[in-house]
Parts: sequence; structure tokens; C-alpha cells
Amino acid sequence: MTYPYSRGGGGMSARKSEEIEQLPGRRSAELIELREKYVTHALGIVCPSFIERAEGEFLTDVDGNRYIDMASGIGVNALGNRHPAVLDAVRGQLDRYLHLCFGVVYFEEYVRLAERLARLTPGDFDKRSYLNNSGSEAVENAFKVARYYTKRPKIVSFSNAFYGRTMYALALTGKDAPYKQGFEPFPAEVIHTAYPYCYRCPCGKERESCSLECFDEIYRLVNDVSNRSRIASVIFEPMQGEGGYVVPPEEYVKELSKLCTDKSVVLIDDEIQTGFGRTGKMYCAEHFGWSRT
Ligand SMILES: Cc1ncc(COP(=O)(O)O)c(C=O)c1O
Repeated sequence: MTYPYSRGGGGMSARKSEEIEQLPGRRSAELIELREKYVTHALGIVCPSFIERAEGEFLTDVDGNRYIDMASGIGVNALGNRHPAVLDAVRGQLDRYLHLCFGVVYFEEYVRLAERLARLTPGDFDKRSYLNNSGSEAVENAFKVARYYTKRPKIVSFSNAFYGRTMYALALTGKDAPYKQGFEPFPAEVIHTAYPYCYRCPCGKERESCSLECFDEIYRLVNDVSNRSRIASVIFEPMQGEGGYVVPPEEYVKELSKLCTDKSVVLIDDEIQTGFGRTGKMYCAEHFGWSRT
């Protein structure tokens, strides 16, 4: 069976013992019929199999096919599937309560996590956390905080950046297809500039001999008389994820950080995709000299 919403997964195969099975298997195919009938067709799929168990780096589907999990729930299971420490923490809470809402009553886990985040997050200043459900929500809230704090309206974002699927997150996203098409118009006050991508330099230079020309545009933008007192924030991925796993030059990140500090512009460090520890340091920004103390 070819799955109509597959992004190339319809012809995938998995190794079961010594055979190569066509995917999806029989039981997955039955469940796909239900999925097609009852789940929105707006959701795409990479691998059209229904998973029954996930353990460490392996997935097993309802037909007994095994896979190496290269996706980790799109970067969420940074410790692999069902890591014992994660299970213990979840069980420990489930045995006492399921859902409370920190806006109604307090519970210890929230403050313990915030305390740990304050310790792990770069910067030698006091830090406080707000925990929410998704990257898009985090991005939207960070911009709200920046606006509220600076009393300014605008935000600078980058080409090929991805910030999520809610309306402002889409407005900030710097890549039309497949995210933005068909959803215009977007909220205003967003300015896009080129991401520092040395392999495909937006200024046509070579890193070995350039003078960081890619920084000129954002420098001009932030200093421009019409923008100077109107830019609340710059939102930046210290390594672009959806944009193609692009690592910026260290000097750019340092200059950007200095520019934002000098002009009292809130620099939002979006590490939703780089995650905790996924780039070899707890925070990706630590690669650029942002230390914890
Ligand atoms: C850099 C970045 N920001 C924000 C988001 C949005 O996160 P979510 O899908 O949890 O809303 C993503 C998602 O991939 C992301 O990569």
C-alpha cells in the first residue's frame, strides 16, 4: 500500500530477521485506514508505521519490524526512549498527582526545575523561568516579554529560520515553503535579515578572507534612525536547525550579542532545536563564549 500523505516513506522497507518487509506492514496498514478516516490530513508522515514499543535507540512496530530511531521524537528524547531516570521522574509524579496547574497551586517540581535551569543557563545574573508547552509558545512569549520590557514594537529575524507554527512564530520564520504558504497575512513589525551562512555566503565572500560583511546589514538595521528606537528584539538560533544545520561564525554571534547589549535590544536565543546537550554542550550558546558564571 502507498500511503498518500507520506513524505517519501511509502516505499520504505525494514529488515525483519533476514527478510525485507515492505512498509507499512499488515497491522499498520489496518490502523492507517483508521488514521485516514479520523485524523486530519493536514499532518504529514515520515515513516508510515505504527510503533508499539520504543526502547533506547530502537523502535518496534505493530508488525514486529525494528528500526533505529534517528528522529528521537524530533529531538525531544535526547536521552533515548524510556531512559530509566526519565521514567522514574515521571512515575514519581504520577503516583502523587497528574495535573495541577502552577497558576492555581504550587508544586515542588516546578521550582526545582527552574532552580536547575537557572544553574545551567549561561549568564552570571539572576534568572527566572516560565515553563510552557511548545517551542512556538516559548518564542511568542519571549517576544511578548521583549516588547513589554522595551516598549518597542519590532523584531529582527533571519532568512531560513524556523520558529514554529503559530501566527507570530510563522511571521518570524524565514522560509516560505512549506511553512508559510497559504497562511498570509502575518502579524507585522518583523524584519528579516540574512543568516550568517559561510558555505553559501549571502555576501558572496569566503570566510578565510571576509570582514564579516554579513553583519553589516543587521548593524545598519539596529542603528538606522527609523528603527533605532523601535527594535525590541532580535531572535537568533545559535545553530540553524530547519534552515539546514548551519553553524554561524563565532565572531558574528559575539558581535550580535555586543550590538544587542549596546543598544538595549533583547536578544532571544532560540535553542529549541539545539536542545539540551545536543551540540556537545548543555546550551549551544556556550560554543560562542556565553558561559554559566
Ligand atoms: C528553532 C526552533 N524554534 C521553534 C520551534 C517550534 O517548536 P514547536 O514545534 O515545539 O512549537 C522549532 C521546531 O522545530 C525550532 O526548531
